[in-house]
Amino acid sequence: MHTYIPFNHVSIGAEERAAVLRALDEGALGGNGPIGAQVQERLRGMLGVRHALLTTSCSHALELAAMALRLAPGDEVIMPSFTFVTTASSVVRQGARPVFVDIDERTYNLDPEQVEQHITPATRAILPVHYAGQGCEMDAITDIARRHRLYIIEDAAQGLGARYGGRYLGAIGDIGCFSFHVTKNIIGGEGGAFVTNDDEIAEKAEIIREKGTNRSKYLRGEVDKYTWVDVGSSFVPSDLLAAVILAQLDRMEQIHRLRQAVWQRYQHGLHDLACHGDIILPYIQPEAEMNWHIYAFRVSDPERRDLVLDELKRRGIGATFHFVPLHSAPYARARWGYRAEDLPVTERVAASLIRLPIYPDLTVEDQEYIIESIYDIFASSSRRATHSEPVNAAV
Ligand SMILES: Cc1ncc(COP(=O)(O)O)c(C=O)c1O
Repeated sequence: MHTYIPFNHVSIGAEERAAVLRALDEGALGGNGPIGAQVQERLRGMLGVRHALLTTSCSHALELAAMALRLAPGDEVIMPSFTFVTTASSVVRQGARPVFVDIDERTYNLDPEQVEQHITPATRAILPVHYAGQGCEMDAITDIARRHRLYIIEDAAQGLGARYGGRYLGAIGDIGCFSFHVTKNIIGGEGGAFVTNDDEIAEKAEIIREKGTNRSKYLRGEVDKYTWVDVGSSFVPSDLLAAVILAQLDRMEQIHRLRQAVWQRYQHGLHDLACHGDIILPYIQPEAEMNWHIYAFRVSDPERRDLVLDELKRRGIGATFHFVPLHSAPYARARWGYRAEDLPVTERVAASLIRLPIYPDLTVEDQEYIIESIYDIFASSSRRATHSEPVNAAV
Protein backbone atom coordinates (compact mmCIF):
# COMPACT_ATOMS: atom_id res chain seq x y z
CA MET A 1 0.00 0.00 0.00
CA HIS A 2 1.31 3.46 -1.00
CA THR A 3 1.64 6.02 1.81
CA TYR A 4 -1.41 8.27 1.99
CA ILE A 5 -1.35 11.28 -0.34
CA PRO A 6 -3.52 13.98 1.24
CA PHE A 7 -5.81 16.18 -0.82
CA ASN A 8 -4.27 19.32 0.62
CA HIS A 9 -0.89 19.98 2.19
CA VAL A 10 0.16 23.25 3.80
CA SER A 11 3.35 24.68 2.33
CA ILE A 12 4.95 26.65 5.15
CA GLY A 13 8.66 27.40 5.12
CA ALA A 14 11.36 29.20 7.08
CA GLU A 15 10.08 32.59 5.85
CA GLU A 16 6.62 32.12 7.40
CA ARG A 17 8.09 30.84 10.68
CA ALA A 18 10.49 33.79 10.90
CA ALA A 19 7.69 36.25 10.08
CA VAL A 20 5.46 34.92 12.89
CA LEU A 21 8.29 35.00 15.43
CA ARG A 22 9.15 38.55 14.39
CA ALA A 23 5.52 39.59 14.80
CA LEU A 24 5.40 37.96 18.26
CA ASP A 25 8.61 39.70 19.30
CA GLU A 26 7.14 43.02 18.16
CA GLY A 27 3.90 42.33 20.05
CA ALA A 28 2.00 42.53 16.76
CA LEU A 29 -1.03 40.51 17.81
CA GLY A 30 -3.89 42.96 17.40
CA GLY A 31 -5.65 43.84 14.17
CA ASN A 32 -5.34 46.87 11.88
CA GLY A 33 -1.64 46.99 12.73
CA PRO A 34 1.54 47.61 10.73
CA ILE A 35 1.78 44.11 9.22
CA GLY A 36 -1.84 44.09 8.09
CA ALA A 37 -1.18 47.51 6.55
CA GLN A 38 1.76 46.06 4.60
CA VAL A 39 -0.41 43.23 3.25
CA GLN A 40 -3.07 45.72 2.21
CA GLU A 41 -0.43 47.87 0.48
CA ARG A 42 0.89 44.81 -1.31
CA LEU A 43 -2.61 43.82 -2.50
CA ARG A 44 -3.32 47.38 -3.67
CA GLY A 45 -0.09 47.43 -5.65
CA MET A 46 -0.47 43.99 -7.16
CA LEU A 47 -4.15 44.26 -8.08
CA GLY A 48 -4.04 47.95 -9.00
CA VAL A 49 -6.97 48.84 -6.73
CA ARG A 50 -7.50 51.97 -4.61
CA HIS A 51 -8.57 50.15 -1.44
CA ALA A 52 -7.77 46.79 0.15
CA LEU A 53 -8.97 45.71 3.60
CA LEU A 54 -7.86 42.49 5.26
CA THR A 55 -10.73 40.50 6.76
CA THR A 56 -11.04 37.47 9.00
CA SER A 57 -12.21 35.33 6.04
CA CYS A 58 -13.57 35.56 2.51
CA SER A 59 -16.97 34.77 4.01
CA HIS A 60 -16.63 37.93 6.08
CA ALA A 61 -15.41 39.92 3.05
CA LEU A 62 -18.59 38.81 1.25
CA GLU A 63 -20.73 39.78 4.26
CA LEU A 64 -18.92 43.11 4.37
CA ALA A 65 -19.77 43.59 0.67
CA ALA A 66 -23.45 42.83 1.26
CA MET A 67 -23.54 45.23 4.23
CA ALA A 68 -21.59 48.00 2.47
CA LEU A 69 -23.97 47.86 -0.53
CA ARG A 70 -26.90 48.00 1.91
CA LEU A 71 -28.53 44.88 0.46
CA ALA A 72 -31.95 44.48 2.05
CA PRO A 73 -35.16 42.44 1.92
CA GLY A 74 -36.65 42.64 -1.58
CA ASP A 75 -33.22 42.74 -3.27
CA GLU A 76 -31.99 39.94 -5.50
CA VAL A 77 -28.41 38.91 -6.24
CA ILE A 78 -27.63 36.66 -9.21
CA MET A 79 -25.00 34.01 -8.53
CA PRO A 80 -24.06 30.43 -9.38
CA SER A 81 -25.38 27.56 -7.31
CA PHE A 82 -22.09 25.74 -7.88
CA THR A 83 -20.22 27.57 -5.10
CA PHE A 84 -19.45 27.63 -1.40
CA VAL A 85 -22.28 28.26 1.08
CA THR A 86 -21.16 31.72 2.16
CA THR A 87 -21.35 33.15 -1.37
CA ALA A 88 -25.11 32.90 -0.85
CA SER A 89 -25.45 33.22 2.93
CA SER A 90 -23.64 36.59 2.86
CA VAL A 91 -26.58 38.14 1.01
CA VAL A 92 -29.23 36.09 2.83
CA ARG A 93 -27.99 37.54 6.17
CA GLN A 94 -28.99 40.97 4.84
CA GLY A 95 -32.46 39.68 3.99
CA ALA A 96 -31.71 39.67 0.24
CA ARG A 97 -32.45 36.71 -2.00
CA PRO A 98 -29.85 34.73 -3.93
CA VAL A 99 -31.04 33.93 -7.46
CA PHE A 100 -29.17 30.83 -8.58
CA VAL A 101 -28.37 30.47 -12.27
CA ASP A 102 -26.69 27.76 -14.29
CA ILE A 103 -23.03 27.54 -15.23
CA ASP A 104 -21.03 27.04 -18.41
CA GLU A 105 -20.46 23.31 -18.78
CA ARG A 106 -16.85 23.81 -19.91
CA THR A 107 -15.56 26.24 -17.27
CA TYR A 108 -18.03 25.60 -14.38
CA ASN A 109 -18.37 29.39 -14.15
CA LEU A 110 -21.44 31.64 -14.31
CA ASP A 111 -23.08 31.61 -17.76
CA PRO A 112 -23.61 35.27 -18.82
CA GLU A 113 -26.68 34.38 -20.88
CA GLN A 114 -28.31 32.85 -17.82
CA VAL A 115 -27.47 35.97 -15.83
CA GLU A 116 -29.22 38.23 -18.34
CA GLN A 117 -32.31 35.99 -18.39
CA HIS A 118 -32.72 36.18 -14.60
CA ILE A 119 -32.56 39.95 -14.20
CA THR A 120 -35.70 41.48 -12.66
CA PRO A 121 -36.51 44.95 -11.31
CA ALA A 122 -35.37 43.62 -7.90
CA THR A 123 -31.86 42.65 -9.07
CA ARG A 124 -29.16 44.71 -7.33
CA ALA A 125 -25.97 42.78 -8.00
CA ILE A 126 -24.26 39.98 -9.90
CA LEU A 127 -21.96 37.76 -7.88
CA PRO A 128 -19.60 35.82 -10.19
CA VAL A 129 -17.46 33.09 -8.59
CA HIS A 130 -14.12 32.39 -10.28
CA TYR A 131 -14.02 28.62 -9.96
CA ALA A 132 -10.60 27.02 -9.55
CA GLY A 133 -8.91 30.36 -10.18
CA GLN A 134 -10.27 30.63 -13.73
CA GLY A 135 -11.93 33.97 -14.40
CA CYS A 136 -15.61 34.16 -15.33
CA GLU A 137 -16.45 35.85 -18.64
CA MET A 138 -16.01 39.25 -17.07
CA ASP A 139 -16.34 41.29 -20.30
CA ALA A 140 -19.85 39.94 -20.87
CA ILE A 141 -20.78 40.18 -17.18
CA THR A 142 -19.48 43.76 -16.92
CA ASP A 143 -21.48 44.72 -20.01
CA ILE A 144 -24.69 43.25 -18.51
CA ALA A 145 -24.05 45.02 -15.18
CA ARG A 146 -23.51 48.37 -16.91
CA ARG A 147 -26.64 48.07 -19.02
CA HIS A 148 -28.82 47.16 -16.04
CA ARG A 149 -27.00 49.36 -13.47
CA LEU A 150 -26.04 46.47 -11.23
CA TYR A 151 -23.14 46.07 -8.85
CA ILE A 152 -20.60 43.28 -9.40
CA ILE A 153 -19.25 41.53 -6.31
CA GLU A 154 -16.52 39.10 -7.38
CA ASP A 155 -16.10 36.01 -5.26
CA ALA A 156 -12.40 35.60 -5.92
CA ALA A 157 -11.88 33.31 -2.91
CA GLN A 158 -9.99 30.95 -5.23
CA GLY A 159 -8.70 33.60 -7.62
CA LEU A 160 -5.80 35.54 -6.10
CA GLY A 161 -3.13 36.27 -8.69
CA ALA A 162 -5.19 34.97 -11.64
CA ARG A 163 -6.33 37.21 -14.49
CA TYR A 164 -9.06 37.48 -17.10
CA GLY A 165 -8.31 39.48 -20.25
CA GLY A 166 -5.15 40.74 -18.55
CA ARG A 167 -7.01 42.09 -15.50
CA TYR A 168 -6.64 40.65 -12.02
CA LEU A 169 -9.63 38.74 -10.70
CA GLY A 170 -11.26 40.61 -7.83
CA ALA A 171 -10.22 43.96 -9.31
CA ILE A 172 -12.66 43.97 -12.25
CA GLY A 173 -16.04 44.44 -10.52
CA ASP A 174 -17.13 46.94 -7.86
CA ILE A 175 -15.92 44.72 -5.00
CA GLY A 176 -13.59 41.73 -4.91
CA CYS A 177 -13.40 39.17 -2.08
CA PHE A 178 -10.41 36.86 -1.50
CA SER A 179 -9.67 33.96 0.84
CA PHE A 180 -6.46 33.12 2.71
CA HIS A 181 -8.03 29.97 4.17
CA VAL A 182 -5.60 27.11 4.78
CA THR A 183 -6.83 25.32 1.62
CA LYS A 184 -6.06 28.23 -0.73
CA ASN A 185 -2.90 29.01 -2.74
CA ILE A 186 -1.79 31.82 -0.43
CA ILE A 187 -2.73 31.15 3.16
CA GLY A 188 -2.93 32.70 6.59
CA GLY A 189 -4.83 29.80 8.13
CA GLU A 190 -8.01 31.84 8.19
CA GLY A 191 -8.27 35.24 6.56
CA GLY A 192 -9.55 37.14 3.59
CA ALA A 193 -9.53 40.48 1.83
CA PHE A 194 -12.04 42.99 0.50
CA VAL A 195 -10.93 45.24 -2.37
CA THR A 196 -12.64 48.06 -4.24
CA ASN A 197 -11.89 51.10 -6.38
CA ASP A 198 -14.94 52.94 -5.03
CA ASP A 199 -14.10 55.46 -2.28
CA GLU A 200 -17.63 55.53 -0.86
CA ILE A 201 -17.91 51.74 -0.64
CA ALA A 202 -14.44 51.62 0.92
CA GLU A 203 -15.37 54.15 3.59
CA LYS A 204 -18.49 52.21 4.55
CA ALA A 205 -16.58 48.90 4.59
CA GLU A 206 -13.80 50.34 6.72
CA ILE A 207 -16.36 51.35 9.36
CA ILE A 208 -18.35 48.09 9.27
CA ARG A 209 -15.14 46.06 9.57
CA GLU A 210 -14.16 48.00 12.72
CA LYS A 211 -17.31 47.31 14.77
CA GLY A 212 -19.27 50.19 13.22
CA THR A 213 -16.74 52.75 14.45
CA ASN A 214 -14.46 55.23 12.71
CA ARG A 215 -11.42 53.70 14.44
CA SER A 216 -9.52 53.45 11.12
CA LYS A 217 -9.79 57.25 10.72
CA TYR A 218 -8.55 57.62 14.30
CA LEU A 219 -5.56 55.33 13.62
CA ARG A 220 -4.66 57.52 10.62
CA GLY A 221 -4.88 60.62 12.83
CA GLU A 222 -7.89 62.03 10.94
CA VAL A 223 -10.10 62.30 14.08
CA ASP A 224 -9.00 62.75 17.71
CA LYS A 225 -11.20 59.96 19.11
CA TYR A 226 -13.26 57.21 17.59
CA THR A 227 -16.92 56.54 18.05
CA TRP A 228 -19.93 54.49 16.90
CA VAL A 229 -21.06 55.74 13.48
CA ASP A 230 -22.84 52.80 11.75
CA VAL A 231 -24.00 49.21 12.15
CA GLY A 232 -20.89 47.05 12.05
CA SER A 233 -19.15 43.88 13.01
CA SER A 234 -15.65 42.63 13.81
CA PHE A 235 -13.88 41.56 10.62
CA VAL A 236 -10.25 42.58 11.34
CA PRO A 237 -7.70 39.74 11.53
CA SER A 238 -4.71 39.61 13.88
CA ASP A 239 -1.36 40.90 12.60
CA LEU A 240 0.01 37.46 13.47
CA LEU A 241 -2.00 35.97 10.61
CA ALA A 242 -1.13 38.94 8.40
CA ALA A 243 2.54 38.03 8.96
CA VAL A 244 1.95 34.57 7.48
CA ILE A 245 0.03 36.04 4.54
CA LEU A 246 2.81 38.57 3.85
CA ALA A 247 5.47 35.86 3.80
CA GLN A 248 3.29 33.76 1.51
CA LEU A 249 2.72 36.70 -0.86
CA ASP A 250 6.52 37.02 -1.11
CA ARG A 251 6.55 33.45 -2.44
CA MET A 252 3.45 33.72 -4.64
CA GLU A 253 5.23 33.40 -7.98
CA GLN A 254 7.13 30.34 -6.81
CA ILE A 255 3.97 28.75 -5.34
CA HIS A 256 2.04 29.32 -8.57
CA ARG A 257 4.88 27.99 -10.75
CA LEU A 258 5.02 24.77 -8.74
CA ARG A 259 1.23 24.38 -8.80
CA GLN A 260 1.22 24.98 -12.55
CA ALA A 261 3.72 22.13 -13.04
CA VAL A 262 1.47 19.77 -11.04
CA TRP A 263 -1.65 20.92 -12.94
CA GLN A 264 -0.02 20.42 -16.34
CA ARG A 265 1.38 17.01 -15.42
CA TYR A 266 -2.17 15.86 -14.65
CA GLN A 267 -3.49 17.41 -17.85
CA HIS A 268 -0.91 15.65 -20.04
CA GLY A 269 -0.98 12.44 -18.00
CA LEU A 270 -4.76 12.03 -18.29
CA HIS A 271 -4.94 13.00 -21.98
CA ASP A 272 -5.34 9.44 -23.29
CA LEU A 273 -8.09 8.63 -20.84
CA ALA A 274 -9.98 11.68 -22.10
CA CYS A 275 -9.45 10.52 -25.70
CA HIS A 276 -11.01 7.20 -24.67
CA GLY A 277 -14.05 9.15 -23.56
CA ASP A 278 -13.81 8.02 -19.91
CA ILE A 279 -13.19 11.47 -18.49
CA ILE A 280 -13.55 15.14 -19.43
CA LEU A 281 -10.46 17.28 -18.86
CA PRO A 282 -10.62 20.78 -17.43
CA TYR A 283 -10.84 23.52 -20.05
CA ILE A 284 -9.17 26.92 -19.86
CA GLN A 285 -10.47 29.79 -21.96
CA PRO A 286 -7.87 31.73 -23.94
CA GLU A 287 -8.67 34.92 -21.96
CA ALA A 288 -7.93 33.26 -18.61
CA GLU A 289 -4.55 33.24 -16.88
CA MET A 290 -4.84 30.66 -14.13
CA ASN A 291 -3.42 30.53 -10.63
CA TRP A 292 -3.69 26.72 -10.81
CA HIS A 293 -5.77 26.50 -7.63
CA ILE A 294 -7.71 23.32 -8.43
CA TYR A 295 -7.24 20.40 -10.79
CA ALA A 296 -10.72 18.99 -11.41
CA PHE A 297 -11.77 16.57 -14.13
CA ARG A 298 -15.16 14.99 -14.79
CA VAL A 299 -16.10 11.34 -15.07
CA SER A 300 -18.07 10.97 -18.33
CA ASP A 301 -20.52 8.63 -16.65
CA PRO A 302 -21.53 10.40 -13.39
CA GLU A 303 -22.88 7.09 -12.01
CA ARG A 304 -19.28 5.93 -11.72
CA ARG A 305 -17.90 9.02 -9.98
CA ASP A 306 -18.37 7.84 -6.40
CA LEU A 307 -16.93 4.42 -7.21
CA VAL A 308 -13.84 6.08 -8.67
CA LEU A 309 -13.51 8.26 -5.55
CA ASP A 310 -13.89 5.22 -3.26
CA GLU A 311 -11.29 3.33 -5.24
CA LEU A 312 -8.85 6.27 -5.14
CA LYS A 313 -9.36 6.49 -1.39
CA ARG A 314 -8.71 2.74 -1.03
CA ARG A 315 -5.41 3.29 -2.84
CA GLY A 316 -4.42 6.07 -0.39
CA ILE A 317 -5.21 9.06 -2.62
CA GLY A 318 -7.06 12.01 -1.09
CA ALA A 319 -9.16 12.88 -4.15
CA THR A 320 -12.53 14.49 -3.53
CA PHE A 321 -15.75 15.85 -5.07
CA HIS A 322 -16.57 19.54 -4.89
CA PHE A 323 -19.52 21.82 -4.18
CA VAL A 324 -22.86 20.26 -3.40
CA PRO A 325 -25.09 22.68 -5.40
CA LEU A 326 -26.72 25.30 -3.21
CA HIS A 327 -30.04 25.49 -5.07
CA SER A 328 -30.80 21.84 -4.29
CA ALA A 329 -29.53 22.04 -0.68
CA PRO A 330 -32.15 21.63 2.07
CA TYR A 331 -32.15 25.36 2.98
CA ALA A 332 -32.75 26.61 -0.59
CA ARG A 333 -35.37 23.97 -1.32
CA ALA A 334 -37.31 24.80 1.82
CA ARG A 335 -36.99 28.55 1.58
CA TRP A 336 -37.37 29.27 -2.15
CA GLY A 337 -38.77 26.01 -3.52
CA TYR A 338 -35.85 25.16 -5.81
CA ARG A 339 -35.72 21.69 -7.36
CA ALA A 340 -32.53 19.95 -8.48
CA GLU A 341 -33.66 19.93 -12.13
CA ASP A 342 -33.92 23.73 -12.18
CA LEU A 343 -30.18 23.92 -12.92
CA PRO A 344 -29.29 20.85 -14.99
CA VAL A 345 -25.72 21.83 -15.94
CA THR A 346 -24.86 22.54 -12.30
CA GLU A 347 -26.26 19.17 -11.22
CA ARG A 348 -24.38 17.36 -14.00
CA VAL A 349 -21.06 19.02 -13.25
CA ALA A 350 -21.36 18.58 -9.47
CA ALA A 351 -22.26 14.89 -9.85
CA SER A 352 -19.30 14.08 -12.09
CA LEU A 353 -16.43 16.19 -10.73
CA ILE A 354 -13.27 14.85 -9.08
CA ARG A 355 -10.56 17.06 -7.61
CA LEU A 356 -7.04 15.67 -7.34
CA PRO A 357 -4.33 16.59 -4.81
CA ILE A 358 -2.51 19.76 -5.90
CA TYR A 359 0.14 21.60 -3.87
CA PRO A 360 3.67 22.89 -4.40
CA ASP A 361 5.46 19.98 -2.74
CA LEU A 362 3.49 17.12 -4.31
CA THR A 363 6.24 14.87 -5.68
CA VAL A 364 6.43 13.69 -9.28
CA GLU A 365 6.45 10.08 -7.97
CA ASP A 366 3.23 10.63 -6.03
CA GLN A 367 1.64 12.27 -9.04
CA GLU A 368 2.64 9.40 -11.31
CA TYR A 369 1.11 6.99 -8.81
CA ILE A 370 -2.13 9.02 -8.85
CA ILE A 371 -2.28 9.09 -12.66
CA GLU A 372 -1.48 5.37 -12.95
CA SER A 373 -4.14 4.57 -10.37
CA ILE A 374 -6.76 6.49 -12.34
CA TYR A 375 -5.88 4.56 -15.52
CA ASP A 376 -6.01 1.34 -13.56
CA ILE A 377 -9.47 2.12 -12.17
CA PHE A 378 -10.83 2.87 -15.64
CA ALA A 379 -9.01 -0.08 -17.25
CA SER A 380 -11.85 -2.45 -16.41
CA SER A 381 -13.95 -0.63 -18.99
CA SER A 382 -11.17 -0.39 -21.57
CA ARG A 383 -12.95 1.05 -24.52
CA ARG A 384 -11.33 1.98 -27.80
CA ALA A 385 -10.42 5.61 -28.26
CA THR A 386 -13.32 7.49 -29.76
CA HIS A 387 -11.57 10.84 -30.21
CA SER A 388 -8.07 11.75 -31.30
CA GLU A 389 -8.34 14.84 -29.13
CA PRO A 390 -9.72 14.76 -25.60
CA VAL A 391 -13.08 16.38 -25.02
CA ASN A 392 -12.62 19.83 -23.44
CA ALA A 393 -8.86 19.72 -24.08
CA ALA A 394 -6.79 22.69 -23.08
CA VAL A 395 -3.25 23.81 -22.29
C1 LIG B 1 -15.95 30.17 -3.86
C2 LIG B 1 -15.71 30.39 -2.40
N1 LIG B 1 -16.30 31.43 -1.77
C3 LIG B 1 -16.12 31.66 -0.46
C4 LIG B 1 -15.31 30.86 0.30
C5 LIG B 1 -15.15 31.16 1.77
O1 LIG B 1 -13.82 31.45 2.10
P1 LIG B 1 -13.37 31.52 3.63
O2 LIG B 1 -13.10 30.13 4.08
O3 LIG B 1 -12.11 32.36 3.61
O4 LIG B 1 -14.46 32.16 4.40
C6 LIG B 1 -14.68 29.75 -0.29
C7 LIG B 1 -13.85 28.86 0.51
O5 LIG B 1 -13.62 27.71 0.22
C8 LIG B 1 -14.89 29.50 -1.67
O6 LIG B 1 -14.31 28.47 -2.29
